[in-house]
Amino acid sequence: MNAKADLVHLSYCSQACTGLQTGDLDKILEISKTNNHRHQITGLLTYSGDIFIQFIEGPKASIDHLMYRLRGDRRHKNLIVLSEGRDHLRLLPDWDMELVSAYEAHQMLREALRETDQYGTVIALSRLLAKLQPELYRDAE
Ligand SMILES: Cc1cc2nc3c(=O)[nH]c(=O)nc-3n(C[C@H](O)[C@H](O)[C@H](O)COP(=O)(O)O)c2cc1C
Repeated sequence: MNAKADLVHLSYCSQACTGLQTGDLDKILEISKTNNHRHQITGLLTYSGDIFIQFIEGPKASIDHLMYRLRGDRRHKNLIVLSEGRDHLRLLPDWDMELVSAYEAHQMLREALRETDQYGTVIALSRLLAKLQPELYRDAE
């Protein structure tokens, strides 16, 4: 997908509601891939313990609309926006929505941080990395 004049990114964390099953996660990913492709959104989702961290990027109107749906989704709660801003290029142009471990997400974000020369992206990635604390992915090490 190409760079767009109104490209923005946003990351948030939230807490899964009690009783969330693997099947629920599969359904979330399935609908996400279909919708995101249609709305030119790319990104990643990590789920560890009962915490979600999601990074989404795309046209501002698409991201605003997705955030509206996410805030009303009863499969999670306590949604907190961690970072948001404008971009020129996508970090994850080929991912409609991929589920990755927090450990993998950490590695990818560090790599992206090394490669970017956009000040806003450095700030956003640094904030996101600070949230991916080792205790979230201890099982993967
Ligand atoms: C943690 C989490 C992440 C989600 N990520 C996305 C996403 O990337 N894209 C998407 O379209 N829906 C995502 N959803 C699902 C939306 O909240 C919503 O259910 C879906 O977009 C369908 O909305 P609608 O029923 O209003 O059409 C996610 C839900 C959760 C709980």
